[in-house]
Amino acid sequence: MRHKVTLIPGEGIGPEVASATRRILEAAGVQIDWEEIGGRTGNSTDQGQVVNQLAVDAVRRNHVALKGPMATAIAGGAPSVNVALRKTLDLYANLRPVKNLPGVKSHFSNVNLVLVRENTEDLYSGLEHEVVPGVVESLKIITERASTRIARFAFEYAKRHGRKKIHAIHKANIMKLSDGLFLRSVRAVAEQFKDIEYKEMIVDNACMQIVMDPQQFDMLLLPNLYGDVMSDLAAGLVGGLGVVPSANIGDDCAMFEAVHGTAPDIAGKGFANPTALLMSSILMLDHLGERTTARRIEQALEAVYREAIHTTRDVGGPAGTDEFAEAVITALPPK
Ligand code: NAI
Repeated sequence: MRHKVTLIPGEGIGPEVASATRRILEAAGVQIDWEEIGGRTGNSTDQGQVVNQLAVDAVRRNHVALKGPMATAIAGGAPSVNVALRKTLDLYANLRPVKNLPGVKSHFSNVNLVLVRENTEDLYSGLEHEVVPGVVESLKIITERASTRIARFAFEYAKRHGRKKIHAIHKANIMKLSDGLFLRSVRAVAEQFKDIEYKEMIVDNACMQIVMDPQQFDMLLLPNLYGDVMSDLAAGLVGGLGVVPSANIGDDCAMFEAVHGTAPDIAGKGFANPTALLMSSILMLDHLGERTTARRIEQALEAVYREAIHTTRDVGGPAGTDEFAEAVITALPPK
């Protein structure tokens, strides 16, 4: 089956890792017509808005996007394309599978967990104001609708992927109303999935538990802020943001992306590691129903890491981006 996918290569190392990923997907035989959206957000708000609108329109047309990193202006400039896509297309579920890759240095082995983060509300609603000089207020919005749909997403994902246990992470002992509503909504959904074990854990304890014994977790379901913090924390358990995928998924559209930045220090030098974007593209293939190809690429990637001859410099290997991509292509199991 042919698929149409919006490709946003991004900036810095983005085009290098996007081109390597695209080569691997093509070599694996998946038939994708790419609609590429280029440009930069930069500091010019107008230019940034135009790129954002092009990206939003393209993803709306194709329903699926693969995205490389983009530089985000700090304190000013256009809003990031990420935020534009997430908000406009209502990509409410952030999905972060976290798993060890063979040979990648990390503090733990046998980590295999999935974090599902609510992407649209909580303290990230951007509702802040100064009450009087010296006092600001930032609103934490939690709704039953958003909590229920993210819970449903997590439980349905667990069911589809053979996951057995979900921990809802909260601070309802202090934020009794907001996190309380989140928990009540999740519990109501959990009731409908009796075959999946449901547990709850307070976020500070969860942070300690995950760095002491990550293997006790299977899936974590979190409101936006705790999800943001804990998903990077979890990535740190297996070697960092360079070796984990990410997806933002809504009912109508989905965007798969590398969560590392544009790496301006190595951009254009041919050293960039495409692993994170490639892993995100594996999630994308699963989403597109190309499960066999997804597993073949996953196996090839793991084989290259196990062999550790053609891995890139950031993970201690000698290879450049192209050599790494070539090695993954060579390691692809036959169809
Ligand atoms: P960064 O992730 O770009 O770089 C941090 C360090 O990791 C650098 O030493 C870099 O060389 C290395 N690195 C990152 N990705 C790598 C890869 N694939 N292969 C090999 N090495 C890699 O973070 P930094 O420097 O804080 O941000 C740079 C720019 O990226 C900023 O403009 C920031 O706004 C943007 N950014 C964009 C993101 C996105 O679009 N999702 C996420 C994070 C940052």
